[in-house]
Amino acid sequence: KYNIAVVGASGAVGEELFRVLEEVKFPINDLLPLASANSAGIEVECQGNTYKIEELTESVFEGRDIDIAFFSAGGSISAHYAKYAVEAGAVVIDNTSHFRMDPDVPLVVPEVNPEDIELWEDTGIIANPNCSTIQMVQLLKPLHDLYGIKRVDVSTYQAVSGAGKAGMEELVRQMQDFFAFKLDESEVKAFAHKIALNVIPQIDTPQPNGYTKEEMKMVNETNKIMHTDFAVSATCVRVPVLRSHSESITVTFKEGVDVSVAEAREALDNFENVKVVDDLETHQYPMPIISTDTDYTYVGRIRKDIFAENILHMWGVADQVRVGAATNAVRIAQKWIK
Ligand code: HSE
Repeated sequence: KYNIAVVGASGAVGEELFRVLEEVKFPINDLLPLASANSAGIEVECQGNTYKIEELTESVFEGRDIDIAFFSAGGSISAHYAKYAVEAGAVVIDNTSHFRMDPDVPLVVPEVNPEDIELWEDTGIIANPNCSTIQMVQLLKPLHDLYGIKRVDVSTYQAVSGAGKAGMEELVRQMQDFFAFKLDESEVKAFAHKIALNVIPQIDTPQPNGYTKEEMKMVNETNKIMHTDFAVSATCVRVPVLRSHSESITVTFKEGVDVSVAEAREALDNFENVKVVDDLETHQYPMPIISTDTDYTYVGRIRKDIFAENILHMWGVADQVRVGAATNAVRIAQKWIK
C-alpha cells in the first residue's frame, strides 16, 4: 500500500481525485491532503477514512514517506513545491502545465504512451496533459496507428469547470441572476465576459502567433504524447456547460489513404476507454450530459469529408475533470505502481 499526498485538495480536481482513488480501490496506506492555509483543517473523505487538509509548505513532505504526490493547484505551486516532494522521495504526478513540455519529463496518457512512464526516474516527475489534449489523443491514437495522420483541425467547446470551482460558481450565479432579471449586473470574474447565454472564443492568454495558450497546448502536447510531428490547429472556446469538454475534430490522413466510416468506428471502438455513440437517425451522439461523471471518451458523428477521400470528421466528448484530469492522473499512478 502507498502513502499519497494530494496538493490542491480543496479544488475541483483534488476533490475528484479522492473520488477516483476510492472508486478504483487504489491501495492507500495513508493520505495527506494539502492546500493553502485558508483550507487547512477542512476534512476530506476517502475510502471510508477522514483526513484533515494541512497547509502546503516546503517542509511538509519531510519524514512523511510519501510514495506518490498528485499536484493540482496551478503551475506556480508546482514550480515551487514539486521539488520538495521529489527530494522527500515521492514521484510527482503533476496536473499543471508547468513541466509538460520539459524534454526530461514524460507527458503521459496511459492508453496512448504508457511506455513513457518509465522515464519518470530522470526527474521524479510525470506530467498529466491538458484536459482537451487527453481526450483528443485518445481518439487520434487508434486512427494514427492504423492509417497515418497528416493534419488535425479541432474546435473545442470547453466547460466552465475547466476554470475550476470559480468557473462553475460563476455560471450558476449568472443563470440565477438571469432568472431574477439581473444578468446585466451579474459579476464577471472567472472569465473575460459573461459566460451565461454566451460563448467565449478565448481560453487562456494570447500568444504572439495569434493563437491562445490553450490552443498551443493542444498543438505541442499532442505531438509530444504521440511522438509525432503532424500539423495541428486548434480553436478553443468556452461554453456555458458545467462539466465535459466537446471537440469537433477533422483528421486529414496521408495522401491516398481512404478510411471508411465503418473502419474508423471499429478502430475507435476497440480502443481502451473509448466508446462510439453514433446514430443520427435515433439522435445518438456524444454530449456532456452522457459523459459527465464517467471515465470514457465518447465519439460520434463520424463521417467522411464531402470533398476529399482522405479526410474524416468526428465529435468527441469527455468529462474533463475525470478523463482529462483526475482519472488520467490515477491511471498513471496505477501503471507506475505495477
Ligand atoms: N485548460 C482547461 C480549461 C482546463 O480551461 O478548460 C483543463 O486542463
